[in-house]
Amino acid sequence: MTHSSGAGAIGVFDSGYGGLTILHEIRQQLPMYDYIYIGDNARAPYGSRSFDVVYEFTRQAVMKLFAQGCRLVILACNTASAKALRTIQQHDLPTTYPSRRVLGVIRPTAEVIGDITTTRHVGIVATPGTIKSRSYEMEIGKLYPDIIVTGQACPLWAAIVEANEADSKGADYFVKKRLDELMSKDPHIDSLILGCTHYPLLLSKIRKHLPASVHIIPQGCYVARSLDDYLHRHPEIASRCTQGGTCRYLTTESPERFQETARMFLHEDVQVEHISLE
Ligand code: DGL
Repeated sequence: MTHSSGAGAIGVFDSGYGGLTILHEIRQQLPMYDYIYIGDNARAPYGSRSFDVVYEFTRQAVMKLFAQGCRLVILACNTASAKALRTIQQHDLPTTYPSRRVLGVIRPTAEVIGDITTTRHVGIVATPGTIKSRSYEMEIGKLYPDIIVTGQACPLWAAIVEANEADSKGADYFVKKRLDELMSKDPHIDSLILGCTHYPLLLSKIRKHLPASVHIIPQGCYVARSLDDYLHRHPEIASRCTQGGTCRYLTTESPERFQETARMFLHEDVQVEHISLE
């Protein structure tokens, strides 16, 4: 469980609460492992921050999780996956932690889309940073070059979730506004990727304001399935992930506030500790 034992929990990182939607699915499918979750709530949302800032914040969180003994870290955040994952994998890991691994959420989501869309027109709602990075277009394009991908930046959606306002009238207004914009750009969309881990918390609003024929694709189950598959294909990593079925929650904000909001995501009470990342 500790750094020196050569094995540790699986680290899960998000800018705030959104990654809990991924962690929940991962723990459903892989309950035997230990997990450590970091939410950088004090600095969330990341969605409108620059590439350099998202990279630096994400790198700090990954290093903190490594210091806690994690051999494998999942960036349960599309913005961090889009802006920081590649640099961490190609630059930081080889020079500092060559035997540790960091995985993201975009590739596992892109992989499933080919079997879901019939019209081959797919929409993505995500933070401005993820949309601007064009990461989904690139990943889907490599796997399914025939699919037309239309992105819609949704500034404020993650902030609405972080502020615990997902059920408010304001949420209705902003969800409808962005979905109308997306569907007017491409009315043939039959599948919508929720390309931000916060958005499953807005699911009922998204369903309400989207044509009934459009499939909504949250990521959690696909990320969990892909992690399961990864651990089977990499026994050298799996054997260094401890199996006690525990989960620790760390936040850069107030543990009390995290605990209250986490209840909404996880439907259980959790113990939360404060951590600083700088
Ligand atoms: N939950 C994150 C994502 O998946 C980021 C939300 C934010 O911090 O803006 O993109």
